[in-house]
Amino acid sequence: MEDYSLGLTSLKDEQQPVRAEIQGRMPEWLKGTLIRNGPAQWDEVRHWFDGMAMLHSFSMDESGVVYRNRFLRGPDWCALNQQGKLAYPQFATDPCRHFFKKVASLFISDLGCNPNVNVVKIGKTWLALTETPLALEFDPETLQTLGLYDYDRDALHRHITSAHPIVENGVLYNFTVQMGKTSRYNGYRMPAGGSRQTFAHHLSASPAYLHSCALTAHEMLLWEGPFVVDPLRLLWRNRPYIENFRWRPELGSRLVRLGRDGTSQAYELPPLFVFHHVNSFYQENSLCVDMLAYQDASLVGQLYLNNLKPAGGERVETPHLVRVRVEQNRARLETLSRTPLELPRILEGQGQAYRYVYGITQQQSRFYDGLVKLDTWNDSQLTWSEPGCFAGEPVPQQAPDGAEVVLLSVVLDTKRSQSFLLVLDAETMTERARAYVPAVVPFGFHGGFTGAL
Ligand code: CO
Repeated sequence: MEDYSLGLTSLKDEQQPVRAEIQGRMPEWLKGTLIRNGPAQWDEVRHWFDGMAMLHSFSMDESGVVYRNRFLRGPDWCALNQQGKLAYPQFATDPCRHFFKKVASLFISDLGCNPNVNVVKIGKTWLALTETPLALEFDPETLQTLGLYDYDRDALHRHITSAHPIVENGVLYNFTVQMGKTSRYNGYRMPAGGSRQTFAHHLSASPAYLHSCALTAHEMLLWEGPFVVDPLRLLWRNRPYIENFRWRPELGSRLVRLGRDGTSQAYELPPLFVFHHVNSFYQENSLCVDMLAYQDASLVGQLYLNNLKPAGGERVETPHLVRVRVEQNRARLETLSRTPLELPRILEGQGQAYRYVYGITQQQSRFYDGLVKLDTWNDSQLTWSEPGCFAGEPVPQQAPDGAEVVLLSVVLDTKRSQSFLLVLDAETMTERARAYVPAVVPFGFHGGFTGAL
């Protein structure tokens, strides 16, 4: 039996900083810290996405690799660990009714903060992010929580947002979903230390679940698939947040373009569900928007713990790469590859032409048990996998002299009941080194590498 459920088992304790056991040779130029975010404690919750946020770091220098982890001490974690009960709504789990104070004026009924999806650096500030309105600031060296970050209580205060901002020249770009009688998507920019300014918005009759965006020098792009919610259901909800959304393929999808000049447009396209945009860029006169597409939103249901953990559950669906090409104000959808790929990363900056996308993939398992490098020019691929191993998001990192690129991925080795940091040669997808930590790093989502702290 494949026992990846070890990666979905709650951690109780935090680790003292500990040196990893290195096999192979780490590249000498690889100095810095990989910071990862993800859920690590699933007491009282029902879904992979609902676990309490924990940061993990792997600091690399000539003396080796040091691993640290720390729970983020947001209101949700504090309540769960002090009162033993879930106090705030999560993605797919609500607290018991008597803990759940309904505030009718808010669409998110109570502002907790369990930012277990991603991290971002803006100026000198590191933030842990999810899709609810608040973020948590943390110290990248010790991983200690520094406090709630509520964006200066600006005009977008209390909106649903995304954990996938894009930082360009020190300015953070992201969007909010403003639910109401008329719902709207707001694209915003936020300079370091500044407040958020909306640069364009688009009205939506049926607001969709949106997870990420793409960005070029001219616009932000959002894929509005037909996984939609009636805002009134959220207001008077009697079920967890995501369970208010419905898959309505008859609505089709829209590619929403939020121009940096304040304009907006939407292009009608077939019904597909998307978590992650990969990139967007201009190729001659056409705008290419690449993303990973699912046939529908079934994945959300497949990631409940009662499907994922027991043997015999439904296989997790993995999406494939599609491109929307916009030319002369018309959009069409192309399939670039059928290779299964999720948690996509590219080496290039957003908005630039690119060739390779890296991600997690599925080989034998019903969960993610490999890494893949997909060549978008000719749909060829290279993969890495090992029996009993389950890999996380691969982060590409280029040597300072540009001579080589490695991928950094945290892998669970069920044969040893330990996780390791895998360093792959990104050209050949072969192993350079691995660094075992004396612990299991639960399956997480996103992270980043930073050269200097
Ligand atoms: Co994501």
